[in-house]
Amino acid sequence: MTPKALMHSIPASADDGHGTIGEILIASGRLTREDASAVVEQQLAHKLPFGDAAIALNLITREDVDYALSRQFDYAYLQERDQTLSTQLVAAYQPFSPVGENLRAVRSQIMLRWFSANPLHKVLAIVSPGKGDGRSFIAANLAVVFSQQGERTLLIDADLRSPATKGQAGLFKLGSGLGLSSILAGRAGLEIVRAVHSLPGLSVLPAGAIPPNPQELLGRLAFMQMLNAASQEYDVVLIDTPSGGDYADADIIASRAGAALMVARKDKSPTPTIRHLAQRLQQCDVALLGSVLNDV
Ligand SMILES: Nc1ncnc2c1ncn2[C@@H]1O[C@H](COP(=O)(O)OP(=O)(O)OP(=O)(O)O)[C@@H](O)[C@H]1O
Ligand SMILES: [Mg+2]
Repeated sequence: MTPKALMHSIPASADDGHGTIGEILIASGRLTREDASAVVEQQLAHKLPFGDAAIALNLITREDVDYALSRQFDYAYLQERDQTLSTQLVAAYQPFSPVGENLRAVRSQIMLRWFSANPLHKVLAIVSPGKGDGRSFIAANLAVVFSQQGERTLLIDADLRSPATKGQAGLFKLGSGLGLSSILAGRAGLEIVRAVHSLPGLSVLPAGAIPPNPQELLGRLAFMQMLNAASQEYDVVLIDTPSGGDYADADIIASRAGAALMVARKDKSPTPTIRHLAQRLQQCDVALLGSVLNDV
């Protein structure tokens, strides 16, 4: 998928009831009240937005303005010193970086091609042919940008082949515990889904303990029922999968989801393996939305 023009923009300044940029900067300790008065003078003298006037006076940085804008528009992101999640969640830690911008462009394409095309479209599998292609990275960061857009988002780790603490449990620092495998075995329900408190609207269902029979579990009716239940509660459900070249799990997951996004790692994923996986998925009536070239 070629990322199209960025559709997401953050207005320079406005007051939507969450406080002005100046108030947010003061409340977060980035600006003193005295300095704010000087900024207002500068702002009036040069007809500048508040943030630009404060930067011109060397009182704050562009990052401080981005922070204030994100708070003003309920756009959650994390400061680097916040260690509650892995910094590999670039969309959460550096939302204004090129990676963040590309992820938002991909989000727009996915919205157009799948989620907003039909109200019944709620679930999407993230697939790729090889190990280490970046499926988990892309799935997690896409889940973050969907939640930042205000979608109630559930990220399911359906890679039942990797150790329980790897994958999404590692990225969201969830430790080991109950997960998808527990639900599929009939030992738990959706109540075990973990809310990510620092990113409102985002929840994660980790893989849980590795079962001896992943493919058989994913083929069970319980998986379909769980996805149906999740579709009632969430706007967007993204599913991380094991490598499609090694296991048939991805075929089952994608066919239950109805649609898949292909991840290809630059200079690593051979075209024939991508084509082969794409053909397999299409034979299962999976809508292939496009591919993301993961340029690591
Ligand atoms: N775009 C990227 N930028 C930076 N690092 C990346 C990017 N994509 C992937 N990585 C890193 O590459 C490594 C492998 O990525 P990831 O675990 O997401 O791949 P995977 O396809 O899920 O692998 P596995 O087959 O083990 O499930 C991770 O350390 C991840 O953080
Ligand atoms: Mg993975």
